[in-house]
Amino acid sequence: MSELASEAMESEFGTVAGWTEEAVLKLGPEHAVPAGCRGSGSEGALRWLADALAVRPGDRVLDSGAGVGGPAGWLAAERGVRPVCAEPMAPAVHASRTLFGLPAVVALSQALPFADGSFDAAWCLGVLCTTDEKGPLLAELRRVLVDGGRLGLLVFIADEPLPPPLPEGNSFPSSAEVERLLKVAGFRITGTAEADLADNPPGWQQRADAVDAEVRHRHGDDPQWAQAQEQSQRVGRLLGSGSLRPRLISAVPI
Ligand SMILES: C[S@@+](CC[C@H](N)C(=O)[O-])C[C@H]1O[C@@H](n2cnc3c(N)ncnc32)[C@H](O)[C@@H]1O
Repeated sequence: MSELASEAMESEFGTVAGWTEEAVLKLGPEHAVPAGCRGSGSEGALRWLADALAVRPGDRVLDSGAGVGGPAGWLAAERGVRPVCAEPMAPAVHASRTLFGLPAVVALSQALPFADGSFDAAWCLGVLCTTDEKGPLLAELRRVLVDGGRLGLLVFIADEPLPPPLPEGNSFPSSAEVERLLKVAGFRITGTAEADLADNPPGWQQRADAVDAEVRHRHGDDPQWAQAQEQSQRVGRLLGSGSLRPRLISAVPI
């Protein structure tokens, strides 16, 4: 399957997702959420969004671009909902079913297999910068939300030209572009915050690291592992230098 923008992204979001599932099954379920949050990064970011979206039991919630399901699994455990995961990479969809028991479908965010107004709340974390189809993606999220629904985003923002080397296949939007795209798609921003990607409880990072170490132990000589590492290190460098900034956004349909 080649729906993502580059081979490197397919390694990072497809192959490594399958390896992550394998490693969590070996190490134990307490590793699932920390290892399964691939872009959302921190519990603090997830809590900010869950509060901003006022997620409560009974809400119909969509995680679009859900990866292996860590954020949706966290939300299920913390807020008593059963999110539906949509994600284009089949190994990641498999992982979210196996690790979190969540309903999950293979789908791009800009072509969701759901009827209009199917969800009360949706979030889309670290996905907007992985596609050039940002407008159609946001329009599709608007379509599947009810009037009065709530949208949460984690977006990696680049307000200045980024220093190379850049991660392959990404196109990071500026703040102004995100604001304009949300408006065009029919949303009004209700809140924003800079995400602290290190805002995690004790033990979280150690569990994520243990899963990474297990994956490296099993697959470290596979070229796809090196490719995925290089991708995430490039993002890490940009975040570390402050040229790329993780922003949380909540919005409602106009
Ligand atoms: C940085 S990861 C974030 C995964 C997850 N949301 C999280 O926070 O842990 C980006 C995810 O977006 C998915 N993705 C890429 N392009 C997409 C698109 N057009 N629609 C939906 N998901 C997409 C990738 O397969 C990957 O799982």
